[in-house]
Amino acid sequence: MTISSLFDAVPRKDGEACATLTIRRPDDWHVHLRDGAMLKAVLPFTAAQFRRGIVMPNLVPPITGVEAAEAYRARILAARPDGSDFTPLMTCYLTDATRPEEIERGFRMGVWAAAKLYPAGATTNAHHGVTDIAKLAPVLERMERIGMPLLVHGEATDPAVDIFDREAVFMEQEMLPLLKRHQGLKTVIEHVTTAETVALVRAHAGRAAGTITPHHLVINRTSLFQGGLRPHLYCLPVAKRERHRQALRQAAISGDGNFFIGTDTAPHLRGTKQAECCSAGVFAGATALQTYVQVFEEEGALDRFEAFAAVNGARFYGLPLNEGTITLEKRPCRIAAAVAVGAEDVVVFRGGEELPWSLGEVRP
Ligand code: NCD
Ligand code: ZN
Repeated sequence: MTISSLFDAVPRKDGEACATLTIRRPDDWHVHLRDGAMLKAVLPFTAAQFRRGIVMPNLVPPITGVEAAEAYRARILAARPDGSDFTPLMTCYLTDATRPEEIERGFRMGVWAAAKLYPAGATTNAHHGVTDIAKLAPVLERMERIGMPLLVHGEATDPAVDIFDREAVFMEQEMLPLLKRHQGLKTVIEHVTTAETVALVRAHAGRAAGTITPHHLVINRTSLFQGGLRPHLYCLPVAKRERHRQALRQAAISGDGNFFIGTDTAPHLRGTKQAECCSAGVFAGATALQTYVQVFEEEGALDRFEAFAAVNGARFYGLPLNEGTITLEKRPCRIAAAVAVGAEDVVVFRGGEELPWSLGEVRP
């Protein structure tokens, strides 16, 4: 399978040698693929890097039912580039009206891989989310019984809470009580952004895990204001202080089985980012693996990259490890600054920059 047309803007010189790293094919445990023209535009990037993806259900309207998830999965499969074996794993958007029977039905049918808890209003398309998590107990008890993972967007929604404290407040007020109430539930705290959440995951090892995005490993909250306001770096949870970024890097490279890739690639059209009120989300999907591997190299931890990228997530979800391999090459590449979507475009995280690592051959 060749992916060079998407990624290879800096041509390789004939016979040039470079360091390479071959790992088991990785998975992305948190991806927003959207729908329609956007899906078609962004999916090739994810499909070129990852064998499977946990697909977020926050479409408009959200994916709350089994049949809607099956139809969405079919649209994703149809949008894959020729020859791609990318497998979308679907998630159920939890609302106040979710019934345990629908959860169990979809899980037993092999449609749902997990269910996603958005506190109502916490982020993009979260207004149908859950208003009172305690009332979700019958759903969570059922998930616990059938072994279905819960994925959590962990931010407080009270507008009076400082935006940089929303993850910490949620962890104290909602996450710890939830973990106490449901001790057998497999829970993924999505896009961890603080040192305290890293510690919370570690303290619940085995039943709680955390995904880490590429952008939270390389930007901190000051990056959002570097030389002016940077709308394309704005996402939720918002990037935190430098000490938190350092803690995330240590968690990712630790080899600890509770941390794994979740790019939270969340494309928005340029017009909705460069706007009076900018939407939350970073399109990290096109440069994700190149960014992660660069971080592991900088931290002297390339030997632990495969665990984070291709082992820990599958083990936590109880899914088989991928069979094939992908080779990463220490050779500069430059990805387009933006990707066209109809007449508009989406700005690529680290697009247009020279990146030290390139994607090489994928062996299925
Ligand atoms: C995501 C989106 O745009 O769907 N945005 C984001 O900032 N991460 C939603 C989410 O995962 O919070
Ligand atoms: Zn997300």
